[in-house]
Amino acid sequence: MENNQYPTVLVLGASGTIGSQVVKDLEGKAVNLRITSRKQQEVEQLTREGKDCKYLDLDDPKTFALALAGVDRVFLLTGYTVAMLTQSKTLVDAAKKAGVSHIVHVGVFAEWDTTDAHFAWHQMIEKYIEASGIAWTHLHPNMFMEAITGAYLPKNFTYTTYWEDRRVGYIASSDIAAVAAKVLVDGPQRHAGKDYWLSVESHNGKEIAQLISEVTGLEIKCEEKGLEEFKQLIEAWIANGADSWYASANIEFVSQMLDGRMSYMSMVQNDIPYILGRPAKTVREYLMEHKDVLISSANQKA
Ligand SMILES: NC(=O)c1ccc[n+]([C@@H]2O[C@H](COP(=O)([O-])OP(=O)(O)OC[C@H]3O[C@@H](n4cnc5c(N)ncnc54)[C@H](OP(=O)(O)O)[C@@H]3O)[C@@H](O)[C@H]2O)c1
Repeated sequence: MENNQYPTVLVLGASGTIGSQVVKDLEGKAVNLRITSRKQQEVEQLTREGKDCKYLDLDDPKTFALALAGVDRVFLLTGYTVAMLTQSKTLVDAAKKAGVSHIVHVGVFAEWDTTDAHFAWHQMIEKYIEASGIAWTHLHPNMFMEAITGAYLPKNFTYTTYWEDRRVGYIASSDIAAVAAKVLVDGPQRHAGKDYWLSVESHNGKEIAQLISEVTGLEIKCEEKGLEEFKQLIEAWIANGADSWYASANIEFVSQMLDGRMSYMSMVQNDIPYILGRPAKTVREYLMEHKDVLISSANQKA
């Protein structure tokens, strides 16, 4: 039931890693929660369940107006494709027309003069949001801890890294979601014009392998592969349907990790305690939560 005293919050990407957790964190809070899906069947199912769910396809701006009508605050998240540029531009335009008063955007952890393509796309989106005149809060997560249990899940007692001994800062997606939810509930009065940096702990491949070993009780070694092997991995991702622009940007990411231009990725800048009043999840805690999947995968051949 809609409460007139509460702001209406629209969550994009509600079926994804971060968005699904933002939705959970917002349930029962002092907001009218609206979610979207680009699957008509899902919209119908969620509506039957009593949720406020609207059809919205980020690739089809014609679908924006109905989803944005009456919305006060937007959680803007796009997926892993270069289409994020047009999607975000058109969504911000529509949000302006709909009278949205606050956009909370998920970007990346980057220096202002980054030369990585995907990171640069996010920065251009941030500037576009700022130029819209709508109050904004930019979230800057470093690498999701989910990468360790996803793309880089250890196999055959081996954790593989492609950026030699370089360190990367990590953040749990649940903490990104918790920050987003808190900002969306508190609103622009408290969080407008703020950049929140989400990089909790910094590790290289050897240190991650060591942590996995300690948590699982298995002996996990670290294998350092190079750029050429990473390119093969990317070719496989593209063959499996990944966006080729985004996938190629990943090759650039590894090149720039190796030549030092992305050394800022190793930084720890942890705004979680300021926003949430509690410590962030550590990598060890995250690995403990995923101990079973790590053990079962490590025991499998590559
Ligand atoms: N992974 C990392 O380490 C990392 C680090 C920093 C920043 N990020 C940023 O995090 C963001 C991705 O977050 P995530 O991992 O939560 O993403 P995700 O799990 O891939 O979820 C993407 C969400 O976007 C929705 N979506 C995709 N295309 C859409 C379209 N055309 N119309 C409507 N909805 C659409 C998907 O819906 P469907 O269910 O319909 O597909 C899904 O709900 C990216 O901006 C990325 O740059 C990632």
